[in-house]
Amino acid sequence: MTGEALRSENLRKVYSVRGAAPVEALAGVSMTVRRGERVSLLGRNGAGKTTFLKIASTLLRPSSGTVEVFGVDVDRSPEQVRPFIAVVPQEGKPFFHLTPREQVYTYLRARGLPRETSKARTEEALQQMGLVEIADRLSITLSGGQRQRTMVATVIATQAPLLFLDEPTIGMDPFARRDVWESLRRLTERGSTILLTTHYLDEAEALSHRLYIVERGEVLVSGTAEELKRSVGGSMQVSMPEGAPYIELFRSFGPCLADGSALEVRVDPERLSEVMEVAARAQLEARMEPVSLEEAFLRAVGRSIDED
Ligand SMILES: Nc1ncnc2c1ncn2[C@@H]1O[C@H](COP(=O)(O)OP(=O)(O)OP(=O)(O)O)[C@@H](O)[C@H]1O
Ligand SMILES: [Mg+2]
Repeated sequence: MTGEALRSENLRKVYSVRGAAPVEALAGVSMTVRRGERVSLLGRNGAGKTTFLKIASTLLRPSSGTVEVFGVDVDRSPEQVRPFIAVVPQEGKPFFHLTPREQVYTYLRARGLPRETSKARTEEALQQMGLVEIADRLSITLSGGQRQRTMVATVIATQAPLLFLDEPTIGMDPFARRDVWESLRRLTERGSTILLTTHYLDEAEALSHRLYIVERGEVLVSGTAEELKRSVGGSMQVSMPEGAPYIELFRSFGPCLADGSALEVRVDPERLSEVMEVAARAQLEARMEPVSLEEAFLRAVGRSIDED
């Protein structure tokens, strides 16, 4: 066993498509997820996130490159990997003829867990995902968000060492999303490792130790949310509604963006007070705020799109 839960090296996937050109979904992805980490994959629609998760969770074969899960090659020994992983697939649905309680319990039993353990874990997962009141209704009668909660409950109940969650909170209300975050944090405290995808950047930031931004099948940048924000130029920004004419005063502090009469300056936190002083001396109204992860994402991916 290695200290890493997952390691991919130069992973490539080319889908062949009948009557059309092949699609290169992954163009050489290398990444690592350490044990106990929560890592998010971010990327535009079609970037390759689901393809990566499918290969890593043994559901799809790579064209080339490798993924190891706890040191075991997923393509060579999928049956050895499966007991260690659990997956919430993108757009998965619970069995309509089962209730959430039956679904969670049955899945745990199918994975070979003993009766008593399965029972206890089912109740705990139903509780954590706010499903207790509707736990005995057929899933066909549940709302979209309730079905999604059932999917997440099923997978967190496994307490598998490595969990893959592909957009686990899609369609959930803000309370349910926080229940998921809480459950995932609890799982990693108990030693599990989590790799997820999400389009909610607040969620990615609240939840992940590290993030990978994927674009057109390649890793564009990776790091903590703080590091990604810094890589777009400073992790704070100062907005001055009437600052545009004074842009030259601020250029040395970091990237400046004039928009009409307004000016935005991106600065390292250490230089924030200096910028505020310069603004005050010029009698400019100035407001400071953190750069959002969403903005870092838009800039990083936008820059890469512009390069073409
Ligand atoms: N079975 C398939 N056959 C052919 N092309 C596919 C297949 N599955 C995915 N693709 C293509 O591979 C690329 C990556 O798709 P993937 O589903 O991995 O993206 P994603 O990052 O998960 O996107 P989303 O955010 O929309 O879920 C896309 O161009 C997609 O059209
Ligand atoms: Mg996807």
